[in-house]
Amino acid sequence: MNVEQIQQIAVIGSGAMGSQIAMVCALAGYSVYLQDTSRESLDKAKSSLEFHMKRRIDKGKLSAREVDEAFSRLNFVMSLEEAVRDTDFVIEAIVEKLEAKRELFAAVDRLAPAHAIIATNSSTIVSSKIADATNRPEQVCNMHFFNPVLVMELVEVVQGPHTSEQTAQTTVELTRRIHKTPILLTTEISGFVANRILGKLMDEALYLLENGIATAEEIDLACTKALNHPIGPFALIDLTGIDVHYLIRMQRYEETGDERAKPSSIVTEKYLKGELGRKTGKGFYTYS
Ligand SMILES: NC(=O)c1ccc[n+]([C@@H]2O[C@H](COP(=O)([O-])OP(=O)(O)OC[C@H]3O[C@@H](n4cnc5c(N)ncnc54)[C@H](O)[C@@H]3O)[C@@H](O)[C@H]2O)c1
Repeated sequence: MNVEQIQQIAVIGSGAMGSQIAMVCALAGYSVYLQDTSRESLDKAKSSLEFHMKRRIDKGKLSAREVDEAFSRLNFVMSLEEAVRDTDFVIEAIVEKLEAKRELFAAVDRLAPAHAIIATNSSTIVSSKIADATNRPEQVCNMHFFNPVLVMELVEVVQGPHTSEQTAQTTVELTRRIHKTPILLTTEISGFVANRILGKLMDEALYLLENGIATAEEIDLACTKALNHPIGPFALIDLTGIDVHYLIRMQRYEETGDERAKPSSIVTEKYLKGELGRKTGKGFYTYS
């Protein structure tokens, strides 16, 4: 399938990532179904997107008409069948657990039209671990967005050994059409490019914190004021979610068996306490 044939997109999972991926697609003119098994999550996605869109209108970045039209193309649904039955392209953004993703891909494969591409937004899991749950492995790939999707421009498209050239090229072209910048990787590697680099920075930041060398605030200041990063590693992990970081590291540990891949003790402690960052009001910082 080529990109011209894409009219309808389904985004599965309406959390931090899925909600904004759906909005970006709707703003680019696509008809979008955003699906979640949780009504609460769908309601939260809707109100959060309304808040972000209002801010863009107030700042003059988008007109009220553009936003109204985008919302009229965006459907919030709980039925997976309704979301994918007429879809051309599926972007999965559910919880970072391999078994959950495999189950979902098998269900989407049964319900979606034969021509539809199914992409995963997973932060770590390469699509060859999921593709064989479907009968269309050549139409499965990674399409990895960055948080917050409304702002961050890069999308990593990963073509696995099972992914057809056509699927990879269509996904790269779709990325451009939703006004993002693609990089296409033709070799699978867990974590892809940007997060592997970020992971090294994070490891060092956690080492400095856990050994009492510097506080989270000081490490963030070093990164923002000396290295000119727009945000420090601890402010970033609070933004993306300590649970997301924890699950990514556990996933990598389970894949590699490498003890060094495990989440650090301070991350594990915060995860178990439910101090997950901005979403719970407390992480490395406290939020009002
Ligand atoms: N948070 C980030 O910074 C970030 C960045 C890039 C990629 N990702 C990846 O995106 C995916 C989602 O991350 P997130 O931060 O949006 O998570 P999140 O926890 O905010 O949202 C996940 C959503 O998926 C829903 N869900 C779970 N199982 C489902 C199912 N079977 N069917 C439909 N909906 C289901 C949940 O109800 C929840 O609303 C993960 O794979 C993660 O690795 C996250």
